[in-house]
Parts: sequence; C-alpha cells; structure tokens
Amino acid sequence: MAKRIAVLTSGGDAPGMNAAIRAIVRVGIADGFEVFGVRHGLQGLIDNEIFQMGPRDVSNIIQRGGTILHTARSKEFMELAGRQKAADNLRKHKIAGLLAIGGDGTFHGLVELAEVWDGQIIGLPGTIDNDLYGTDFTIGFDTAINTALESIDRLRDTAESHERLFLVEVMGRWAGYIALDVTIAGGAEQVILPEFTIEQCDKIALELKKGRERGKTSGILIVSERGKEGGVYEIAKELEKFGAKGYRVSILGHIQRGGSPTARDRVLATKLGAYAVKLFEKGQSGVMAGEMGGKLVAIPLKDTWTRKNEKPLDEFLLEIIEPLSI
Ligand code: F6P
Repeated sequence: MAKRIAVLTSGGDAPGMNAAIRAIVRVGIADGFEVFGVRHGLQGLIDNEIFQMGPRDVSNIIQRGGTILHTARSKEFMELAGRQKAADNLRKHKIAGLLAIGGDGTFHGLVELAEVWDGQIIGLPGTIDNDLYGTDFTIGFDTAINTALESIDRLRDTAESHERLFLVEVMGRWAGYIALDVTIAGGAEQVILPEFTIEQCDKIALELKKGRERGKTSGILIVSERGKEGGVYEIAKELEKFGAKGYRVSILGHIQRGGSPTARDRVLATKLGAYAVKLFEKGQSGVMAGEMGGKLVAIPLKDTWTRKNEKPLDEFLLEIIEPLSI
C-alpha cells in the first residue's frame, strides 16, 4: 500500500495557503503517496474530517485567498483527550505523515501531538504576521503588506485633502513586521510597534507637533496591534491629552487577511509545500519547512517560537523612518 500523508490548515488563514495545499497534493501524488485533506485544521483531526484528495481537487486554487480546507482555532486540541482522539483518527486512516500549515499556535499543538502519535509531523509557516523563526518570510505576509498598503494609500488621499492625521492600526498580533514594512512603503510619518507603552505617547505627540511646525498638514501614523484589535483607540485618547485633535482612526483588521496571494506568496507557498513532501520522504519529523537567505531549511518546530529574538525587525529601516519624514 502507498504511504499516506495528510494536509491541513490551522489558525488564522493566510493568502497562499491554497497554493501550498496544491503543491503538497500534487507533488505528494507524483511521488507515489496517497494524499488526504483534513477540514477545519487540528479540530478536524478530532472530528475525523479526513478525506482523500486527487490532483483535480486542487485545480484552479493557486490564485485564491483563504483556504479550501477551512481553518479553526481549536480549544479541544489543547486538551490531552482531544489530541488522543486526533491521534486515533490519524491511526484509523493509516496516515504516516501530517503536513500542517499554520502559525505558532498550530506548531505548539503539533509538538504536543507528537507525544501521543508517532507519525511524521512537518509544519509549514502560514501566517500574515511573519512572526516565526526559521523562515525569512511566512506564507501570506507579502500579500498582507500589499493589501494594507493599498488601503493606506487611499487613506493618505483623504488625510491630505482634509489636512488630518490618521492613526492606522495594522495586524501582527505581538509582532511589528507588517507595521514596519507598510510604514516604509506607505511613507508614513511614524510607527508604533507592539513593545510601545502608553507613557511614550508624549514623544509621539512632540514629533507630530514638530512635523506641523515644519509645514506638514496631514500625516499617517501606523499602529501595530498589541495582541488584539482596537488598542489604537487607547493611544489616540492619550495623544488627545497632548493636544492632538481632528485625527481619525482606521483599523484595517481582517481585510489584511483576505485576497488573492501575490506572486511572491504563491512561489513561496508552492516551494515550501513541495519541500515539505521531500522532508517527509527523507524521514524528517518535528520540523518546519522554511526558507532562509534563499536556502530551504528544516527547523525544529520548537525553535520557531523559542528563537524569535533571532529574527529582529530590520534595524536600518527603523532608523530611517525619522529622517524620511522630515
Ligand atoms: O495571526 C494572524 C492574525 O490575523 C493576527 O494578526 C491577529 O491578531 C489575529 O490573527 C486575529 O485573529 P482572529 O481571526 O481569531 O480574530
């Protein structure tokens, strides 16, 4: 009997997930495996939503955002009983390898699954946040920054016309990769990163005041999420105390997660999908398929979150925000 592998997408969806599914299904079958899909991520393993896939099941999806397999954030999988059910279902279907596309929540789940299931487990980095060590870029990040940028360009038009300041909140959970890139690419005046504390608002207000004195009549301030949506309102309120008035707040929210993946994301997702199948063939397990410095790498799943500090934001870009907004 041909060896069986299964693919799932879990956690927040990210553009490019479909391209990765397509690559896994087609390269997997081309290499002689039977490929199964799992609906609704890790929760789908518990609920036994496991079905066989053929090459035609992934036709015409490379350009589609979201995930045809659907996704979920599973509370049940956090419990041992849930993971045991998942392992039983994997055994029932005689799955030898699980290829899971997601972010660090998903990878934590995979590491725990390895305690109760002895098949091979390979992760693929699928999140718009880009907050995983072991890959320079995650699948979905490039599309998300381009989507956010499109909105920021539009906001600049209205900001300029009304001579207003806009505070624009972007996603990223606890990571500032999206915020930094759109600040540079959108020509924003300042960026507020997740590490920001409300006491630092005086500095922001002072910079804005200096800008006005230099003749700036409008501005864009990019605010990174700090764990959850909406924190920008607290910052706006605080800035009011320092005299900011007439500003507007815009939260880009889930808009950033949708849409057709960029060429970069499609290529990355396809490459990592195919590479994940090759890692399975080589007998690897407990690793994430990534790309660093143009090279394909297999990084222990745990490293993707424990070594996050080895993937800092681009210091040089941070330094030049101020001179660029004179
Ligand atoms: O991890 C991706 C992400 O979009 C984060 O940027 C954001 O904080 C979070 O997911 C939102 O999650 P949900 O879709 O569950 O609201």
